[in-house]
Amino acid sequence: MLDSVERTTSLIAPAKINLALHVTGRRHDGYHLLESLVVFANFGDRVSVKRSLVDRFEISGPFRGDLPEDETNLVIRARNALRARFPDKADPVSIHLEKHLPISSGIGGGSSDAAAALRALAAHWNIEPDGLSEIGLRLGADVPMCLEGKPLIARGIGDEIEPIAAFPHLPMVLVNFGISISTPQVFAALDRRDNPPLPPLRSSPCADDVCAYLAATENHLFSAAEKLCPSIGITLVALQGTGARLVRMSGSGGTCFAIYHSDEDAKRAAAALRQRHPDWFVAATYCAAEGG
Ligand code: C5P
Repeated sequence: MLDSVERTTSLIAPAKINLALHVTGRRHDGYHLLESLVVFANFGDRVSVKRSLVDRFEISGPFRGDLPEDETNLVIRARNALRARFPDKADPVSIHLEKHLPISSGIGGGSSDAAAALRALAAHWNIEPDGLSEIGLRLGADVPMCLEGKPLIARGIGDEIEPIAAFPHLPMVLVNFGISISTPQVFAALDRRDNPPLPPLRSSPCADDVCAYLAATENHLFSAAEKLCPSIGITLVALQGTGARLVRMSGSGGTCFAIYHSDEDAKRAAAALRQRHPDWFVAATYCAAEGG
């Protein structure tokens, strides 16, 4: 008898936050060498996969925008890459992507979607997840870290991952006022590519340790992003007025984050920002020690 209950595999594709990002060099192929302390929010897009007679792909949600539903979408590229490796297991699937993260905004939306699609499809098709990182790296430098989905230090071009065993709960607010920034353009606009590496992070840091550590680090992509989009500073100034412990841009921008003492402080700050700027993307969240 046919199973009449449709099994759906559904995963959150969490926002990726670069708490610190140092650019330390450049490879011969033009990719940059970096060191980044990366965490993942308890908030993000959602990728759902279920059986279908033919392949389908649908995008919905507040940041659906003009995202293509064709073979250029990273989710479809992830499906095709996994299917090419496991053609016997990869029956047709219907994939639904719910976009809650702003696009091209430095919090890894596309890479996190691709990683969630790889994990959801591997579960759906009964494929061992071991080789996903290698497949993911061919889709984008940030996909392997998004597959990890837990606090980590990334090195190399972002693909060499050192998980952090114990990391504190960090209440945060993410803000973007509608800027999309091209990552290649930001890297191309860098003045310096020979910055020092990240300092060592003590093991099992508490929130105070992390904030002290971050004060001794930077996001080296910030000045380049600000050169391309001078209004990015508006977001930082708005966050600075909310009693945050630390305010910084994530990735190549323009999403900025602020860290607070408590979840209540973060929620209060988010509510005040939403009231003042109803058209901005504002999310109160926290870095999830175990990922999304
Ligand atoms: O790998 P991905 O397609 O996500 O990278 C987008 C672009 O960002 C690359 O084409 C490259 O220009 C730039 N990039 C870089 N160094 C990295 C990661 C990305 O120069 N480590």
